[in-house]
Amino acid sequence: MGRPECLPRFFFSVASFFSYDQLCEWADVASTLTPPARLAVIGDPIGHSKSPQMHNPALQACGLEAQYVRVQVPVGQVKEAFGQFQKNGFLGVNITIPHKFEALEAVDFLDPLARQLGAVNTLAIRDGKLHGFNTDGPGFLRSVKEAFGAEVKDLRLLILGAGGGAGRAVAVQSVLAGCQHLLLANRTESKLAPLVQELASLGSAQVQTCSLAPADLAQQLAKVDLIVNATSVGMKAEDAPLLPAGCLEARHFVYDMVYRASGPTELIQAAEAAGAGHADGMCLLLHQGAISFEHWVPGHTAPLEAMRAGLAAANAGV
Ligand SMILES: NC(=O)c1ccc[n+]([C@@H]2O[C@H](COP(=O)([O-])OP(=O)(O)OC[C@H]3O[C@@H](n4cnc5c(N)ncnc54)[C@H](OP(=O)(O)O)[C@@H]3O)[C@@H](O)[C@H]2O)c1
Repeated sequence: MGRPECLPRFFFSVASFFSYDQLCEWADVASTLTPPARLAVIGDPIGHSKSPQMHNPALQACGLEAQYVRVQVPVGQVKEAFGQFQKNGFLGVNITIPHKFEALEAVDFLDPLARQLGAVNTLAIRDGKLHGFNTDGPGFLRSVKEAFGAEVKDLRLLILGAGGGAGRAVAVQSVLAGCQHLLLANRTESKLAPLVQELASLGSAQVQTCSLAPADLAQQLAKVDLIVNATSVGMKAEDAPLLPAGCLEARHFVYDMVYRASGPTELIQAAEAAGAGHADGMCLLLHQGAISFEHWVPGHTAPLEAMRAGLAAANAGV
């Protein structure tokens, strides 16, 4: 693709991203960017990411002459891409699907929490060194507090898709935060055994597993407070519902990590119908993003309301 159109002050066209080849020629490609690009998100694909619409208002609110861009990086090129960002004066990078595991091996210093959660979603470049963090886990805790007014440590948690990267991170982070009751479910049930073992090594939480079979889930839902969907089910409008109809109660909190631009997922619709509290993937995007921002710009508290307004505008297609 050609060079993204640069609008007078902030922001490219919403659909724009740079290619890996362009990153490798950054001095030429970015010479006319005003303000200069100092932050980025990498993934493959990446054109859909709403992170620029969240972070650019944050940079502006803090009076920082910098902008946040998308770069599409192919699998296997994460370390090389990090080298380019470092060489070109970037402060940091967000890492999304499918690069969060590759990024673990591509940093100079790995934060202990990122090691425990098994994924890096935030790179901070300090004094020429690459520091890897995970802000998805802490962002999950903050977003539960904001959405439901509750602490994970006080809730009985059901994680659907605990065998995937996001589900595993939620499980480990929740046990580290003091959660005492976890119920784990995954389509491929064999993926749960190593996680159960790992959680046992972290604390005294009671960890049990169940299947995704409707009858099993209907029975187990009576025993939990917070239900987290960490599967990719719901991303497509035609996806079959994960939970059996009519089994949610008003006392439940439902957290769907999926966000669907075309409207609420079936799970969120079911929560609404039951009068249950609910939050979707935008809530996590906001809070993990705020923590990333504070890694990149030490001394600044992330301007949460500017970031929230940026995301709301992006979702409204503004
Ligand atoms: N909002 C955010 O900021 C944010 C951050 C991270 C992730 N997420 C979302 O979380 C979801 C998972 O991401 P991930 O990185 O963990 O992906 P992943 O590692 O590929 O894991 C995918 C999970 O979904 C399960 N799954 C896939 N199709 C299924 C189906 N038809 N029925 C039941 N389970 C199914 C998989 O089960 P198997 O193990 O059996 O394959 C696995 O547990 C994605 O939708 C992603 O967008 C959102």
